[in-house]
Amino acid sequence: MWVFVGALLAATAVHVAGQQEGFLSIDCGLDAKFNGRRDTYTDIAYVSDDPYVDGGMNHRVAAKFDVSSRSENRRTLRSFPSGIRNCYTLPTESGGKYLVRMEFFYGDYDGKTSPSFEVHLGSNYWDTFRNSDFWWSEAIFVAWGSWVPVCLVNTGGGTPFVSTVELRPLLPSLYPQVTVDESISAFARKNLGADTIYRFPDDPYDRFWEWEVSSLWANLSTKKTIQREDSFAVPIPVLQTAVAPVNNGTVLHVGTWNTYKSTFEFKFFLHFSDIQNTQLRQFDIYLNDYEWYKKYSPPYLTADYVYSTGWYKATEGTYNITLAATNRSMLPPMVNAYEVFNRIPHDTPRTSPKDFDTMMAIKLEYGVKKNWMGDPCFPANYRWSGVNCSGVTANTTRIISLDLSDSNLTGVISDNFTLLTELRYLDLSGNSLNGPVPKSLCKRSAGSLIFRYQSDEDMCNKTTISPPLSKNRTAIISISIVVPMLVVAILVVACLIWRGRRKPKISTHDPPREPELQSAPESRKSNGDQLQNTENRRFTYKELEKFTDKFQRCIGKGGFGLVYYGRLEDNAEVAVKMRSESSSHGLDEFLAEVNSLTKVHHRNLVSLVGYCWEKDHLALVYEYMSQGNLCDHLRGKNGAGETLSWATRVQIVLEAAQACEAEDCHWQHHHGGRCPPWR
Ligand SMILES: *[C@@H]1O[C@H](CO)[C@@H](O)[C@H](O)[C@H]1NC(C)=O
Ligand SMILES: *[C@@H]1O[C@H](CO)[C@@H](O)[C@H](O)[C@H]1NC(C)=O
Ligand SMILES: *[C@@H]1O[C@H](CO)[C@@H](O)[C@H](O)[C@H]1NC(C)=O
Ligand SMILES: *[C@@H]1O[C@H](CO)[C@@H](O)[C@H](O)[C@H]1NC(C)=O
Ligand SMILES: *[C@@H]1O[C@H](CO)[C@@H](O)[C@H](O)[C@H]1NC(C)=O
Ligand SMILES: *[C@@H]1O[C@H](CO)[C@@H](O)[C@H](O)[C@H]1NC(C)=O
Ligand SMILES: *[C@@H]1O[C@H](CO)[C@@H](O)[C@H](O)[C@H]1NC(C)=O
Ligand SMILES: *[C@@H]1O[C@H](CO)[C@@H](O)[C@H](O)[C@H]1NC(C)=O
Ligand SMILES: *[C@@H]1O[C@H](CO)[C@@H](O)[C@H](O)[C@H]1NC(C)=O
Repeated sequence: MWVFVGALLAATAVHVAGQQEGFLSIDCGLDAKFNGRRDTYTDIAYVSDDPYVDGGMNHRVAAKFDVSSRSENRRTLRSFPSGIRNCYTLPTESGGKYLVRMEFFYGDYDGKTSPSFEVHLGSNYWDTFRNSDFWWSEAIFVAWGSWVPVCLVNTGGGTPFVSTVELRPLLPSLYPQVTVDESISAFARKNLGADTIYRFPDDPYDRFWEWEVSSLWANLSTKKTIQREDSFAVPIPVLQTAVAPVNNGTVLHVGTWNTYKSTFEFKFFLHFSDIQNTQLRQFDIYLNDYEWYKKYSPPYLTADYVYSTGWYKATEGTYNITLAATNRSMLPPMVNAYEVFNRIPHDTPRTSPKDFDTMMAIKLEYGVKKNWMGDPCFPANYRWSGVNCSGVTANTTRIISLDLSDSNLTGVISDNFTLLTELRYLDLSGNSLNGPVPKSLCKRSAGSLIFRYQSDEDMCNKTTISPPLSKNRTAIISISIVVPMLVVAILVVACLIWRGRRKPKISTHDPPREPELQSAPESRKSNGDQLQNTENRRFTYKELEKFTDKFQRCIGKGGFGLVYYGRLEDNAEVAVKMRSESSSHGLDEFLAEVNSLTKVHHRNLVSLVGYCWEKDHLALVYEYMSQGNLCDHLRGKNGAGETLSWATRVQIVLEAAQACEAEDCHWQHHHGGRCPPWR
C-alpha cells in the first residue's frame, strides 16, 4: 500500500551556477588533483578529503556503477578498515548554524556486502548506516567550536565508508529549535506530488527534498508563484506541488514510519500552500491518535507550516500522520511537503572548544599522525592518544596532560602549547624540536606544570632573553655591559669607604658566617671554572627554593633584596639575590644585569650563574665567594684567605672604578645587612 520511492540516485539536469558561499563539499576518495571539480548537476565545487581526515583508503565504485548517469561525487569513496572511530573534522564558525550531510553509495566497491556502522556528530550518536546501497544522513547543529567532527564508528558490521561530506551554513532563523546542546537529524524530507529531487540551487541551503509517491494520493500542482515566508525557506518548486487523497476522499494518510532505534524521539514539520481558493479547505491533523492541530486551513499560494514543538515518542515505535477533513470542508485535505527529524541529544560532554582548537592547531602545526580524530577527550575509549582530561564541568572538560614524547615533532616549540591553560603535564621529549621554550611554559613549569623536554633536562635554561644581535641591539647590549660594570666599581669604592668609617658596627650587622662557608678554598676554583662556562641559566623559583633549602640561610642584603646561600645540584655554592618588593631595581635593570653580567668575567668580580624570572620572583644567582667577599679581600680582613698585596688592591679598585663618574651608579650593597626572621 505505501510505496516510498527514493529519489536517490537520480538527478535532474540543473545547470545553474549559483552562489555557494560557505559551502564545503568534500568528495571522499577524490584525488587532490581534481580539487574544485564542479558537479555536473548542481555546479557545486567538490574538493578532496585529504585535509579533513587522517586514516582510511581511497576506492572507486565497481565499474557497473561508475557510469556517467550517476552523480560524479558518489563514484569515489573512502573506507576505514582500521580504527574503531574515524572522523572528518570540519571547520566551522563557533555559534553558527549548519547543515552537515554524509552520503554513502556502496557501489560494490569491495565486492562484499554493504556494511552497517554508526555515524556520530561530535561524540554523540547521530544515525546508523544499515547495509544499504545508498543512504544519506543529514544533521542540523549549532557549532560549539571552530571544529566539528563527524565520525564513522565501526560497530562490527563491516568496514565503514563514506562517499561525500557536505557542510552548509544556515541562517540562524532556520530551525530555531536547534541549539548548541541539541542537534537534529533529518529522518525524512519529502516533496509531495513531485517526480524529482530538489536540492541546490533550488534550495539555497542544499537540503535534499526527495519525492515520494503513493497509490492513495492524487497529484496537485500549480505554476503560480507562491509567497514564501522565511522560517523554513522551503523552495518554491517544492511548494508548487502537493497531494490530496484519491477520489476526493476525506482522509489523507501522509506517511508512516517505523523507528529502527527505540530511543529515537521525533519532531514533525508539515509545509502547506493551497493551490485552490474557490472553496473552504479545512482539516484536523493527527499524529497517531493524538489530535495535533484542529481546523487547519492552508493559505492560498502562501507558504505556511505546522510543526510539533516538543519531541514525540510513540511506545510502539510506529508513527503516522493523518489529515482528516472537517465536516465544513468542501475540499479534501492536502499537504505539499513534510520533514521528520529525530533528536541528537548532546549527552556526551565535550572538550572545551578552546582546548580543542589548540589541539587542532598543534596537530596541524606538527602534522601529528596519531589517532587524533574527533573530540580529543570523548568518548573516553576513543580519547586522543597522549591526552588526559579533567573531570566535567558545565558539559565540558579540559585537557590536563599531553604526552607527545617520541612523536617525530620537528621545528620550534609552538606557542600553541601555552594556550592549554589547564595543562599539568607536558612531555615533548624524544623529538627534534629546537628554539626557545615559550616563556609562559617555563614560568608554569616552576609551578603546577610538569614539563619534560630533552630527556630530564630543564629546558628553561635556554631562553629568549638575549635575542639575536642586530646593529641596534649590539649598541644596547654594550651599554648594558658598561653600566653594571660601573655599578660594581662604585660598590667597591663605597664598600671601602663605608668599612673604613663604620668598622665597629660591621660585626653586629654582618650575617653570621658559618664555618663551612669559609672552608672550601680548594673546591672553589674548580667550581668557579665550571660556573664560568655555564651561560645564562634560568632557574625556576622552585629550584631556588630547593637549592637554598627554602631560603634557610640569609647571608646579606643588597640593593636588589636579600641574599641567600645555596648549593646547586652539583654542589656548586651560590649566592642567590632575591629581588624584594621594595627594591628600587626595576625589571629593566634586572634584565640588563642578567644580559651583561653573564658575559663579564672579571677575575675579581663574582660571575653570574643564572637568574630566575617568574611573575612574582626575580632573582640573580651568583657564584659564591667562599673566600670572603671582595670587600674583605680589599680590606685584608682576617680569616678571608690569602691577603692581597696593596698593589693588587689598588689595581682592582682602579680597574673597577675607571670612568665611573655618574650619580646614577648608586649601589647599596651591604648597606645594613640585616636578615629577616626565618620563614
Ligand atoms: C503522481 O505523480 C507521480 C510522479 O509523477 C506518479 O508516479 C503518480 O502516478 C501520480 N499519481 C497519480 C494519482 O496520478
Ligand atoms: C472531486 O471534486 C471536484 C469538485 O468538488 C470535482 O470537480 C471532481 O470531479 C471530483 N473528483 C472525483 C474523482 O470525484
Ligand atoms: C496510525 O497510528 C494509529 C495509532 O498508532 C493507528 O491506530 C493507525 O492504524 C495508524 N494508521 C496507519 C494508516 O498506519
Ligand atoms: C460537524 O462536526 C462537529 C463535531 O466535530 C459537530 O458538532 C457538528 O454537528 C457537525 N456538523 C455537521 C453539519 O455535521
Ligand atoms: C598555532 O598553530 C598555528 C598553525 O597550526 C599557527 O598558525 C599559529 O600561529 C599558532 N599559534 C600560536 C599562538 O603559536
Ligand atoms: C593518563 O591517564 C592514564 C589512565 O588514566 C594514566 O595511566 C596515565 O599515566 C595518564 N598520563 C598522564 C601523562 O598523566
Ligand atoms: C549540558 O547539556 C544539557 C543537554 O545535554 C543541557 O541541557 C545543559 O544546559 C548543559 N549544561 C550546561 C551547563 O551547559
Ligand atoms: C617517526 O618517524 C619514523 C621514520 O619516518 C617512523 O618509523 C616512526 O614510526 C615515526 N614515529 C611516530 C611516533 O610517528
Ligand atoms: C640545560 O642546562 C644543562 C646544564 O645545566 C645542559 O646540560 C643542558 O644541555 C641545558 N639544556 C639545553 C636544552 O640547553
